[in-house]
Amino acid sequence: MELGLEGTVALVTGARGNIGVATCAALKREGVHVIASDVGVDEAAATDDGLEWRALDVTSEDDWARVIAGIETRHGRLDILVNNAGVAPTDRIDAMPLSQFRRAFDINVAGVFLGTQAASELMAKSGALREGGAAIINIASGAADKPAAFNACYCATKAAVRMFTRATAVEFSALGFPIRVNSVHPGAVESDMLGAIVERYVQLTGSTADDLYAAMLKGHPMGRLVKPDEVADGVVFLASRAARYSHAAALHVDGGNANT
Ligand SMILES: NC(=O)c1ccc[n+]([C@@H]2O[C@H](COP(=O)([O-])OP(=O)(O)OC[C@H]3O[C@@H](n4cnc5c(N)ncnc54)[C@H](O)[C@@H]3O)[C@@H](O)[C@H]2O)c1
Repeated sequence: MELGLEGTVALVTGARGNIGVATCAALKREGVHVIASDVGVDEAAATDDGLEWRALDVTSEDDWARVIAGIETRHGRLDILVNNAGVAPTDRIDAMPLSQFRRAFDINVAGVFLGTQAASELMAKSGALREGGAAIINIASGAADKPAAFNACYCATKAAVRMFTRATAVEFSALGFPIRVNSVHPGAVESDMLGAIVERYVQLTGSTADDLYAAMLKGHPMGRLVKPDEVADGVVFLASRAARYSHAAALHVDGGNANT
């Protein structure tokens, strides 16, 4: 299977998180020039990870405009956009402040919209340069279709990401843009985000963390949680020539969790 990723250029948001780190590393291994971005990045700081770091708050139109313009000037192309930045507010509906609910929609949903909007022109030009076109990969979640108590806001944002992905895919095809748009739906990933969710669940339910992890494991038929690099490999596949006819698809990386 030919991935055809050598020499392409990718932008990854939320690149300091567990899935972001793994995704940048996996793309880099395939010969992709990776622009890693996150909030509060010091662009002048030297790094030895081989990544080009950019400060990008996904809720800021100005940040998106600056970063995309910089990529166009420096590289002349953007083949892959991974909209990965996200937050998972965990609380009872009757306790969650509206500001927190809106902030999650701003980051998880408007962030994907703004990135898609800012990058589409350059990506459409870049997509014409290689078989399989350019690729936008939105990191959704199993929570897009599966309800979870105390995560109503998060579930709703990820369901929105899923439908935004599908609608963007058909719109780009209608416009003749050679950009494939797909989403990745991880199950429960061994990550800081999951650790924080479990910690909050313990406070909200009085269960122990061990009981909560045991219940989560039951929901993953393959018997363990997801590893960040398994999500990253799904991203690499969707970015690659191998996925050249995958469009508007949802790739579940969850050991079967969506079917339990
Ligand atoms: N961890 C899981 O179990 C899990 C499961 C399914 C889906 N996901 C999704 O995967 C993605 C990555 O999650 P993760 O586990 O690596 O979480 P994480 O908390 O480790 O990383 C999230 C990253 O997003 C960044 N971020 C937050 N707000 C931002 C903003 N306004 N602009 C730019 N960056 C911002 C954070 O700084 C952080 O680096 C998220 O979209 C998350 O919803 C995670």
